[in-house]
Amino acid sequence: MKEQLLQKFGEIFGDTEGAEVYFAPGRVNLIGEHTDYNGGHVFPCALTIGTYGVARKRKDKKLRFYSMNFDRLGVLESSVEKIKPEKEAGWTNYPKGVIWAFGQKGYEVTEGMDLMLFGNIPNGSGLSSSASVEVLTGFILRDQYGFSISNEELALIGQFSENRFNGVNCGIMDQFAIAMGKKDNAIFLDTAAMEFEYAPIRLEGAKLVIACSNKKRGLGDSKYNERRSECETALAQLQQVIGIETLGDLNEEQFELYKGAIKDEVCQKRARHAVYENRRTVRAVEALKQNDIEAFGRLMNESHISLRDDYEVTGEELDTLVEEAWKVDGVIGSRMTGAGFGGCTVSIVKDEAIDAFREKVGQAYLKKIGYAADFYAVQIGDGPVKL
Ligand code: GLA
Repeated sequence: MKEQLLQKFGEIFGDTEGAEVYFAPGRVNLIGEHTDYNGGHVFPCALTIGTYGVARKRKDKKLRFYSMNFDRLGVLESSVEKIKPEKEAGWTNYPKGVIWAFGQKGYEVTEGMDLMLFGNIPNGSGLSSSASVEVLTGFILRDQYGFSISNEELALIGQFSENRFNGVNCGIMDQFAIAMGKKDNAIFLDTAAMEFEYAPIRLEGAKLVIACSNKKRGLGDSKYNERRSECETALAQLQQVIGIETLGDLNEEQFELYKGAIKDEVCQKRARHAVYENRRTVRAVEALKQNDIEAFGRLMNESHISLRDDYEVTGEELDTLVEEAWKVDGVIGSRMTGAGFGGCTVSIVKDEAIDAFREKVGQAYLKKIGYAADFYAVQIGDGPVKL
């Protein structure tokens, strides 16, 4: 892989002198959805699929970008001196956003770079292809320009760039899962305290299977920001009656007691999801620690129902994938993952049931939705590396 990437870099940028090869993973969230901007817990893990980058620092100010996933766009040029978000800049807004964010955080990038990317995460699949590019870019800048920055800070800078440069009000989960990934472990992160622990995922006789709906979604044009502001409205109204800082401060009983303070029925449903999902995530990690994978699976299923009925971010495609999965013997749990509105589901499936899962869910999906879904058995991988 490394040799092929370097060769391609040479073809595109003339030679490979000084070029280095890097990789940052994608992520899948096992449980704890739409909780990260509500001061709740999340439980994602990094994958072994992700984004490869070949990069070298330049002596002038020029930025030259090329993506093997968007060959037709050719080499896109810019400069470190005039970085601003541009609609027509397409995917390069992600690396550019990170270069800009470095400057905002006091790590000024004064020399340019040649950067070539190749990603094997399906775009728009909800497996965080954009956060993968952001963390990868930060990791490359740190290595090539000699900045002293922790991986945790790389995650925060990635999120900052997504919020402020690309206009998506995302939480910290994706960038954190990618920057802090650890093979065979998921990350139990408390997004209020920003404290985390690794939890080994030992699926004896079962695998994580991703089903990709192939319904494309972009966070920017989704209703993501709208959900976020509905939660903010609910929080502000709850704060009139109880001293909390985030929805994640409430348990279920407290929520039931105070929910009347939320005037609007829709905002009340959104908040109910945020509160219950947070508690489910804590319970799911406890179940996992006790090796009770069946209980973990049930909580995944409940998570989906709450995302479908209260948070309303699933849609026919994701619901079909999940509801068909629930019918298959040997499926321990199944839910949508990521922001929703398209993208993927994640399921824990017993080894002997994987073929039937693909077959049955695949056929039912094709019949109902009219195009095919893709299935991948995935592995949990490490955070970013230099190859
Ligand atoms: C997207 C965002 C995350 C998180 C999820 C939903 O992936 O980038 O911060 O909010 O949606 O859980």
